[in-house]
Amino acid sequence: MKKLVSILLVLVLSLSLLTVASAEAAKKVGVAMPTQSLQRWNQDGSNMKAQLEAAGFEVDLQYANNDVATQVSQIENMLLNGCEVLVVASIDGGALDTVLGLAKEAGVPVIAYDRLLTGTANVDYYTTFDNYGVGQIQGQYIVDRFDLENAEGPFNIEFTAGSPDDNNAGLFFAGAFDTLKPYIDAGKLVVVSGQTEFEVVATPAWKSETAQARMDNILTGFYADGTKLDICLCSNDSTALGVTNSLINFGFTAENMPVITGQDCDVANTKNMIAGLQAMSVFKDTRTLAAQTVVMVTDILNGKTPETNATYANGVMDVPSYNCTPVFADVNNYAELLVESGYYTAEQLAE
Ligand code: BGC
Repeated sequence: MKKLVSILLVLVLSLSLLTVASAEAAKKVGVAMPTQSLQRWNQDGSNMKAQLEAAGFEVDLQYANNDVATQVSQIENMLLNGCEVLVVASIDGGALDTVLGLAKEAGVPVIAYDRLLTGTANVDYYTTFDNYGVGQIQGQYIVDRFDLENAEGPFNIEFTAGSPDDNNAGLFFAGAFDTLKPYIDAGKLVVVSGQTEFEVVATPAWKSETAQARMDNILTGFYADGTKLDICLCSNDSTALGVTNSLINFGFTAENMPVITGQDCDVANTKNMIAGLQAMSVFKDTRTLAAQTVVMVTDILNGKTPETNATYANGVMDVPSYNCTPVFADVNNYAELLVESGYYTAEQLAE
């Protein structure tokens, strides 16, 4: 199968070289996205497509329904269809080495998009946000909001992290946990459930339902006796949504809701911030990430070395990377950040 794909690839590449030589055909870029079920990836996909097309490229955009095998065959097809650069937001960052090897054989550069491609030498660049920095913003918010430098506490906190197959998830959690650890050690923050290991607080596939079910268990197991829960540190908005639903089912309202963190400024979560149900989120403007990635694609196709400002170790190599800057968001700045900037319309955020 691999051989057949390689032969077909050589054929297709020769044909596409002929096409390029005979006419000024637009170069084709493959964009592999993980799923349409989470809002941010739809935004990433459509921003990438629009910006690549505006830069004069043809775009093959695919969503893989969170299924690794689907993503592998989509990437194979992109290569067969003559894509000259691949932009890949993986489902499982460590599961694509073989198919990325086909890209390497065909001389097609690969850019990991938002999520690192791990355990492979077949990746050229990585564009993302400062992922550890996202967690630090969440942790620092708790430090400031509860004045942990001066306050005695103790305040009770529970952690909910992301998917173990996503390299970002460990970084988000580490950024938040490292920021809060001194206060846990000092007894100002107490994790009543005792659940502080990434593997224990992780949420496979970032699913809201999974985060909700785990929080249901924590609430009945540790808080049913009236113990006060002050903080739910959630790594992103899909997990925050599950945790919020669990808390609402348990009887919490906007009046006594624990402080919940998130990331992405999804519409549902931004509405929750406005309604006083979620305290903050971290805004990662997908337009910025798309623009940065388009610059990288353009440089690569023009034979220029793209600008990078970081490296990420992927287990096999240090991947030259471009880190965009994540931004703190809450009820006080969402209008400027999200509405005035044109990211959402006011109607989208209305009830
Ligand atoms: C992204 C987050 C997103 C999460 C779930 C992560 O890789 O960086 O923005 O919330 O995946 O889709």
